Parts: sequence; C-alpha cells; structure tokens
Amino acid sequence: MRKTWGKHSMKCNARADGNKSMLMIRRATLEDLGAITEIYNEAVLQTVATFDTELKTIEEQKTWFSNHDSKHPILVAEQDGLVVGWSSLSKWSDRCAYSDTAEASLYVKKEHQGKGIGRKLLEAIITEGQKAGLHTVIARIAEGNEASINLFKSEKFEHIGTMKEVGRKFDKLWDVYLMQKIYDT
Ligand SMILES: CC(C)(COP(=O)(O)OP(=O)(O)OC[C@H]1O[C@@H](n2cnc3c(N)ncnc32)[C@H](O)[C@@H]1OP(=O)(O)O)[C@@H](O)C(=O)NCCC(=O)NCCS
Repeated sequence: MRKTWGKHSMKCNARADGNKSMLMIRRATLEDLGAITEIYNEAVLQTVATFDTELKTIEEQKTWFSNHDSKHPILVAEQDGLVVGWSSLSKWSDRCAYSDTAEASLYVKKEHQGKGIGRKLLEAIITEGQKAGLHTVIARIAEGNEASINLFKSEKFEHIGTMKEVGRKFDKLWDVYLMQKIYDT
C-alpha cells in the first residue's frame, strides 16, 4: 500500500558546478522506509543525534510512519534515484493542547553530509509545517552536535534551554539543547 499526503516535490540542482545530479525533496512513501531506516540506524549506531540505542526494525518504522499525517509530514531527499536523507515533523505530545507544536527530525546519509542537503530538507519541512498550520517547531539536539545547532540557528531557531544530563549513550551522560521556531502569524 502506498501512503502519501498529496503530490509534492521540489527539484533543485544540488551542485554549484552545474553537473547533472539533481536533488529532489519530496514526500516520503512507504517504499522509502527501508532507506529511511538505514539512514536512521546509521545514526543510532554512530552518533548521539538520536538517543535510540537499539536498531529500529521495519515493523517499528511502519508504526512510526503511520503516526505521521499531512500535519506531521515526512520528506526525503532523493539524488539520482537514491534516498540520501530525510526530515520529519512529529507530534510533540499526544495531549491535545500541544496539537500545533511539532518536533523536527533531520538525517542525512554520512557520505552525503556537508553538501547542502540538510539545509534543503530543513527548509522544506519548516515550510510544510507552516502550510499545515503549526504554530511552533522544536528541535532537541545533543550537546556537541555543532552541525545541527548551526543549521537550526541559521534557520532562525532560538536556543530556549538545555536539559542537563538527560541521555546516557556511549558511556557518557549528555545534555540536550532545546531549539524553537515560532512561525510568524
Ligand atoms: C545535521 C545534518 C542533518 C546537517 O546536514 P548536512 O547536509 O550535512 O548540512 P548542510 O551541508 O546542509 O549544511 C547546512 C549548515 O549546517 C551547518 N553545518 C553543517 N555541517 C557542519 C559542520 N561539520 N560543522 C559545523 N556546522 C555545520 C552549517 O551552518 C551549514 O551551513 P553553511 O554550509 O552555510 O555553513 C547532518 O550532519 C546529519 O545528518 N547529521 C547526523 C544526524 C543529526 O545530527 N541530525 C540532527 C539531529 S537534531
């Protein structure tokens, strides 16, 4: 079964040198779940970008996918037919008063990082959240993840606080940096 939330894609030339490689940011479908999971599991094993410590199975990921909808989209970056990154907006909480607040997630495959793909994915997901009527988006970023902190800062997310020593991974306790963007009304 193919689950989409309407036709939607943005194409952009990913290379400043005009080379033919095209980057497309589009809505994720269930067919993308294998690639999304592979990228996520790479981060589970190697980074504190996520505080998951166990690899996700496709079954678990199907549940995650089905918890997203038009207000909480998942986007992928596709380059030359391959999914090289993804971004999403997830419910911040199931409690109804939080319904206009979402959490952003963003992952680019290691060998494709540093080429502008993360920025395009973040910009696209911010735009989707605004179109969907969200009021605010929050990011939780582990201390030391300068790439992520810089990227969110440059997209006008503000640092709103730090949760001290909340995650234990790789035999260390990590602080989590909270960053927030409130949409202009
Ligand atoms: C964070 C991440 C999504 C950034 O994606 P990317 O494609 O590598 O980033 P881009 O090339 O689009 O760079 C965008 C901006 O991020 C910042 N940035 C990227 N890499 C950086 C680095 N190594 N050091 C410092 N800042 C960096 C810069 O501000 C950069 O803008 P600039 O090129 O104008 O200076 C990517 O590194 C990633 O997937 N990391 C692992 C997962 C992760 O940390 N996710 C975020 C969890 S909150």
